[in-house]
Formats: sequence, C-alpha cells, structure tokens
Amino acid sequence: MNIQNTAAKARITAIGTYVPERRLTNFELEQMVDTSDEWIVQRTGIRERRIAGPDEYTSDLCVAAVKDLTERYGKSVADVDFIIAATTTPDYPFPSVSSQVQARCGIEQAGAIDISAACAGFTYGLHLASGLIASGLHKKILVIGGETLSKVTDYHDRTTCILFGDGAGAVLVERDEEVSGFLAAHVGSKGEGGVHLYRSGLSKQMGEKELAGNGCIVQNGREVYRWATTTVPVGMRQVMEKSSLQLSDVDWFIPHSANLRMVESICEKSGFPMEQALYSMELYGNTSSASIPLALDKGLKDGKVKTGDVLLLYGFGGGLVHAGLLLRWTI
Ligand code: UT7
Repeated sequence: MNIQNTAAKARITAIGTYVPERRLTNFELEQMVDTSDEWIVQRTGIRERRIAGPDEYTSDLCVAAVKDLTERYGKSVADVDFIIAATTTPDYPFPSVSSQVQARCGIEQAGAIDISAACAGFTYGLHLASGLIASGLHKKILVIGGETLSKVTDYHDRTTCILFGDGAGAVLVERDEEVSGFLAAHVGSKGEGGVHLYRSGLSKQMGEKELAGNGCIVQNGREVYRWATTTVPVGMRQVMEKSSLQLSDVDWFIPHSANLRMVESICEKSGFPMEQALYSMELYGNTSSASIPLALDKGLKDGKVKTGDVLLLYGFGGGLVHAGLLLRWTI
C-alpha cells in the first residue's frame, strides 16, 4: 500500500522511556533451557533483557515512560487530546492500556485507543498521529509503545525465551505551525505470513498449525528473518522515494531491534552504513513496540542523535506488517 502523505505540520516534541529493574542475563537462561551465552550473542546480539515484576503490567510501564517524558522535557500532558498505545501485551483484552494511561496521567479531555501491529506498532502509531494532526482533528497526541512480553513467553522454549524483554517508550507529537518533522512514510502488510509469528491459545486455528494453547508467543524465526530482511530494504527505498531526500541524507537508521544480525543484513542489502544504525536489543532484548523508542532514546542519551538529524524508523513484525517513517528530529 502506498501513501503519499507527509506534509504534516506535526513534530515530536518530547520522549520518555522506562524499563523494569529486573535483568535476565544469558547466563541465567543457560540454567533454564539448553542454550549458551555464546549462541545467543552470536545469533541475536542480545546480552540481557528486562523482566517486569509479577504485579507490573504494560500500563504501569507506559505510565512510567510518560512520567519520564514529562520530567525530562518539562512538558505537561494534561492537554493531550489523543492517546495511541501500541501493544500486543495489554493488561486486559479491554479496558485498553491507553485508557489506563489517560486516567493515571491526569489527562481529562483525550480520546484513547490501543493498536495492534506487533513490533511495527510504534511506527504505525506515529504514522496515525501525524495524519490526525495534519488533518486538523487533533493537536497533541501521545504515542506509546509498551510491552510485557515476559508474561507471554514460554520459558521452556529456547527458540523464543532468549529473545523477548519488557519495556516502554512514549513520545509527544504536537501540531506546529512552522516545522514539519514527518517527511515520508511507507506501510505494508503480508497477512499470509501471520502463521509464522503469533500468540497461541486463542480460539481460531492459525493456518495449518495446531496451536500450543499455552497463550505464549510462537515463532518460525527463519521465516520471519527471511521476510524482514527482504521486505525492509525495499520498504526503506520506498520511503525515500516519497521524500525529496536520498538514503545518504539519513543520519540514523532505527529499525525494530529484533536481532543484531538482521540489522546488519538489512544495512548490507540497502547499502546503509551499519555504524549509523541505532538498536536496543543488546541490553533489552526484543521489546516489540518499545524497541524503536528505546533505541532512539539511547541514541539521544549517547549524544548521537542531534537537533536537525534525519531519522529513518522501520518497524516490522507479527501480522506480518511493517511501517517505515522518515523524520526530522526537531527537539
Ligand atoms: O520481533 C518480531 C520479529 N521477529 C524477528 O524478527 C525474529 C527473526 N528471527 C530471528 O531473529 C532468528 O531466526 C532467531 C534468533 C529466532 C533464530 O536464529 P537462527 O539463526 O535463525 O536459528 P535457527 O532457528 O535457524 O536455528 C539454528 C539451530 C537449530 O538447531 P539445528 O536444527 O540446526 O540442530 C535450533 O534448534 O539453533 C538451534 N537453536 C538454539 N540453540 C541454542 C534455536 N534456539 C537456540 C538457543 N540456543 N536458544
């Protein structure tokens, strides 16, 4: 699907993140399943991940990320008029995480909705926010990616339990009369591939598969790897074609942090320098919709991302769905 948008006068004006305190290292996982630190680091680049406490849920992580945003940027969120929370691990099927954030952050006049786009949730959320602001319907939108994947991970399954972690990231998107931070976007879906990555235990059979039925994540890693490393380089080109910029104008590429090898492969295939990629899987694992804001925030804290930089964000995952966004960082 092609969308030629993006003259939106909207920009990101603040960011906040949160990860739970508890660290789960590769060495601890060696005690739990038949794996090794060496295998995990070599195949994924992941060294440790954060795990929410038993009473800590996705809305708690999201509220903490919004709190971090307000404290660091001195921004009030009281007049936010729309909240989009991207998550595959809501506290409940309903009420939504976004409505919990609305209540707990003292936001009185906002619409609130959760979206389901798995690891592409954050970039889909930003895409929607820029459109809602460009249309004049809304002025100040919180976009949050938050997950407690540890609650839907089978810690007997070595093919998935070494991957996932918990975390949240939030950004504020505001209308701006002068500056547009959203430069171009490209989104897509390949629903036939949904069978390769899903949460089991729901009522409908997924393709030919017998569902495990324990409510946990099931993944055919090789298939998802193949799809992502062929789809994302093409998607990156399509984002750039909708802008007036070249890939060489991009200062930082921030793909979903599923696996370091995948980032390397995507960079190689697209001809983008790996040194200009930002990722978060080393310390946080695959945090699905939180992985891009966590990587972006790390890039800011490390002094890499600066005002005026051009960022190419690319989310991809369960669906299978993907969404790429070209942004100018204006804070
Ligand atoms: O975030 C949503 C999108 N998700 C992704 O993008 C994930 C994409 N896929 C991947 O990141 C990779 O496919 C994985 C990290 C999940 C797996 O890496 P791989 O290099 O594709 O491994 P593989 O599945 O091809 O397995 C290779 C071998 C197998 O053994 P045999 O059949 O060759 O004897 C596995 O059984 O590695 C074995 N293996 C493990 N060995 C030690 C699988 N998991 C482990 C493990 N420790 N944790």
